[in-house]
Order: sequence, then C-alpha cells, then structure tokens
Amino acid sequence: MKILLLGSGGREHALARSLAADPSVSELHAAPGNPGIGRLATLHSLDPSSPAVVVEAAQRLGVDLVVIGPEAPLVAGVADALREAGIDAFGPGREAAVLEGSKAFAKDVMRAAGVPTADARVCETAEQAAAALDEFGAPYVVKNDALAAGKGVVVTDDREAALAHAASCGRVVIEDYLDGPEVSLFAICDGERALPLLPAQDYKRVGDGDAGPNTGGMGAYSPLAWADPGLTDQIMDEVIAPTLAEMRRRGTPFIGLLYAGLALTSKGLRVVEFNVRFGDPETQAVLALLETPLAGVLRAAARGELDSVGELDWREGAAVVVVSAAAGYPGTPAAAGAIVLPDDEDDAYVLHAGTRLDGGLLVAAGGRVLGTVGRGADVEEARARAYGILSRVEYADGFHRSDIGVPH
Ligand code: GLY
Repeated sequence: MKILLLGSGGREHALARSLAADPSVSELHAAPGNPGIGRLATLHSLDPSSPAVVVEAAQRLGVDLVVIGPEAPLVAGVADALREAGIDAFGPGREAAVLEGSKAFAKDVMRAAGVPTADARVCETAEQAAAALDEFGAPYVVKNDALAAGKGVVVTDDREAALAHAASCGRVVIEDYLDGPEVSLFAICDGERALPLLPAQDYKRVGDGDAGPNTGGMGAYSPLAWADPGLTDQIMDEVIAPTLAEMRRRGTPFIGLLYAGLALTSKGLRVVEFNVRFGDPETQAVLALLETPLAGVLRAAARGELDSVGELDWREGAAVVVVSAAAGYPGTPAAAGAIVLPDDEDDAYVLHAGTRLDGGLLVAAGGRVLGTVGRGADVEEARARAYGILSRVEYADGFHRSDIGVPH
C-alpha cells in the first residue's frame, strides 16, 4: 500500500513510525513532514491544506490512502476533494470537521445526540459574555468558537482575563467548569462503526503542577491504570456511538479519528471537547503501544469497512511522552535553537515536532519542538525511560515539564 501522510508535527512523526512499521506499506510519503519523518518517508514540500494541491500529489504519487494529521486540511475540505477524486482518505469531510472547527456546532450535535457535556452559552458581545460568566461563576471557561491551534481555551478565576479573552476572540462559548480528571479517548471511525484506542491523559498547562497558561499539550501517558476498566466501553456507548449516529443522521457521516476530550466529574463523565484528528501529544504515547499494523485499520475506516477489522492489539505496559518546547512557548518561541539527539532505543526514542535542518544541523522550528517517548512495564518505568533519553538530548533553548506521567 502507498500512503501519503499530511502534517509536520510530533503526532505525524508517531503516525509515520507506525505506518512505516506496517509490512503492508510499500511506500510512505509525507507532506510537508519534518526531519524525523524524513528518515521514514519521502518528503514533499507542498501545502497540505490546499485540496487541489493534495489531490494532484496523491494522483501523481499513485497513493492508495491519504492520512490527514492536522485539523486545518480537514476544515479546508481536503478529505472531500480526495474522495471526489476516488482516493481513500482517513479524515472527516469539511462539514463533519466542524465538530472541531466550531465549539457551538459541537454543542448542538451533543445536545441532539444526548451526549453529556457542560452547560454552555454562545456569546458574541461583551454583554452576553459578562452575563454568561456571572451565570456560571468562577472558574471561568471561555472557548474561542473557531480553531485556535490549541490556544483558544482560557480557564481562569480572573473575570477580567476571561472577558478580555472573549473580546479577543469575537464569538465564544462560555461554559460551566467541569471538575475531575481529564481523559482523552480516540476512536477510529468509518462513518458507522468505531474502534477505540487506549485512553490517555495529556498535560495542557505549560508548567509543573499544572501551572501557567494552556498549551497545545506538554506531555501524555497511556493507558490509565487508575481508571475504571469499563471506562472505554462507557465512552464508546455514551459519547462516540451517539455522536456517530447523529452525524450520519445529518448526512455528514464521520470518517476518521474522533477525539473525545472528557472530564470525569463528580456527576459522571462529560465531554469537554471534540477534535476530529489524532491528539497531540497523546498519539505519541498511544501509538507506542499499538501492535496491530496501523495502515490496514486506517484504510478500512476510510473505505467504510471497519467491520473487517477485529479488536486492536496492544502491548502490555505503558508509554509516556514528554514534550520539549522552545523557551517562550506558548508565547513567541525562541527560534532556531541548536539540537543534538541521542540514538533511539527500543523503548526510548525521540519524535520531532517542530524541527528543521539548517545546513545539515538540526534546529528548533516551532513552539513544541521534540517529544521523547518511553515505554515500560508500567507508567513509572515508561516515565523513567522517557526522562532518561530526554536527559541525553542537547537542546539548550528548550524546556519541559518534569511531572509528565504523574496522574493529575
Ligand atoms: N492534546 C490536545 C490536542 O491535541 O488538541
């Protein structure tokens, strides 16, 4: 099978690693990719969010499947254009991608599907925002209605900061704060059926102990030894299945990765948000444990044939990924810091997230720069291996959290 993978982050490096290890994959292409992905795939410098450009490349390369990593190409309709051209695509069409593209739309789908989520108000003016903040009280949860690269959500006790975020966004969703631990569950969907991956937990705040502003994610681990063993089935029954049914009823079946971000509150589980693509960095931990060859599963989903795939097989144990970010992140990150990486090991390796080659030398090129992955018999061993290899990474301009893998 020939595959084109779209995207350039740590999530895509993890996807490329799994796809390259699948014996059914004869050629792996990536666009635009990064230097880590470039060791596994042929890189193509093209705009992954341009439907016409991606269709032309997929035809020229003769690929059997296009795997779409980030949300921007999905929202731009890249999956629709590929399907119209008769090319299998793993990722939802533009209308289904609105589940991530608009928080207000996602709330509407959840209401119609009976999926438990926080009570919310959609606000377009400062007056509406102020009224909603006062209705729900602190801590205030203000979400940009539109895509904001993981930085659209502000959770704060400071009413002025909440109002300022609402004013900077335009249309926002203000909602009730959900207590309890957060969980990410990914489901591979074929429009009708869904297969769950292992649940994971990510660390959204920039600093140890969940201090500081939200980021795209500073680390993750999987699975969740502390969670009820029935949690995945419960999420599939109460969240994923009714959402897929509602999307089908609306004539926009969901094909691709449905990511449910959930809070396990004192009143039961609640959806915090949906995303329509693999989560970053949870994917780096989850795929480290997947034993079933990935390409066949994604292709079956893209073709509406998930019934041909059995349950997924997983390694025993746990995986942890620790993100190294450039100083300044999630504000303006320090650019072009030099990086020297240790060799990968079986159970400890480095994924590239925002890197580039500069005259043959590896340098930082983004906010989140690297993800170091450790695997082990349990989360403690996985954590020790992830931090162990990270201690051998030379990246003076970078920083990382030191508490990834400690449940929170
Ligand atoms: N882990 C957060 C995200 O992928 O949006």
